[in-house]
Amino acid sequence: MNEGDGKTLRVALLGCGVVGSQVARLLREQADDLAVRTGARIEVAGIAVRRLSHPRPGVDQALLTTDAMGLAIRPDVDIVIEVIGGIEPARSLLLAAMKAGKSVVTANKALLAEHGEQIHAASRTYGADLYYEASVAGAIPLLRPLRESLAGDTVHRVLGIVNGTTNFILDRMDTSGADFGESLEEAQALGYAEPDPTADVEGFDAAAKAAILAGLAFHTRVTAADVHREGITEVTAADIASAKTLRRIVKLLAICERSDAGVSVRVHPAMIPRSHPLAAVGGAYNAVFVEAQSAGRLMFYGAGAGGTPTASAVLGDMVAVARNRLAGT
Ligand code: HSE
Repeated sequence: MNEGDGKTLRVALLGCGVVGSQVARLLREQADDLAVRTGARIEVAGIAVRRLSHPRPGVDQALLTTDAMGLAIRPDVDIVIEVIGGIEPARSLLLAAMKAGKSVVTANKALLAEHGEQIHAASRTYGADLYYEASVAGAIPLLRPLRESLAGDTVHRVLGIVNGTTNFILDRMDTSGADFGESLEEAQALGYAEPDPTADVEGFDAAAKAAILAGLAFHTRVTAADVHREGITEVTAADIASAKTLRRIVKLLAICERSDAGVSVRVHPAMIPRSHPLAAVGGAYNAVFVEAQSAGRLMFYGAGAGGTPTASAVLGDMVAVARNRLAGT
């Protein structure tokens, strides 16, 4: 909180791409509602971008800076929201922000899956809030239920579809009979798949998310390297057709399990019965089952990607850290 002003919290937004631009928009459009919900005005102190010249309709140019580090540690900033993605410079920025006493909200699954231990250690060392709901399954409230609502239960298994791009591709292959290449091209034309689709189609994105889920579900450290990973590039139209004849459907599943032997986390295509609830998850949607000792079987479903849905999760975290700061916790 800024000195002399008990009712304003200032946010540094690092990144203004697909998600960041929606976070900026919602912060502007919902400013009054957010003030009521948090108990403080939320002001954007600055937005760090790579190129100042890129057109950003609706974004106040005066807020833009290319000095992300300078912004992240600025004394008048309370909360840092990181939506740049990737390992560096995001890691250095978040570590510096927490050291400088900022609360941190991030959507960065790769960073948390690879360097979660270091990032969490910094959060503990500096007493800084670290929230990352948007890093897994976009808009779906999933990490907070695991971290908070189920904290008194024992989770045995987390299983689901956590990558929208591959689900879209497999869904297209199933409904149209198209092969992998054609379906990927369609996903790219519609903006679901990146020009370089490797992270999605080879299962790296889902593996990072699975590592984060397993870590929270089983109260342990799991990194992306611990996850057995297999993507969907080898899935053929013939595989999909034979699954159909068996009344099954192919889905890329993330499976996190705890047994007496330990924790096992894997991502791979699997044939599931068409009667299974996950079989009905089409398009770019995500769905995750959590199986817990006392709660039983829970299902979470919704938009797992996209600027606005992911921005919803980011803002939910931002309200939570804002409330914590105001409460001094
Ligand atoms: N590429 C990801 C997906 C975006 O398709 O699910 C969200 O992490």
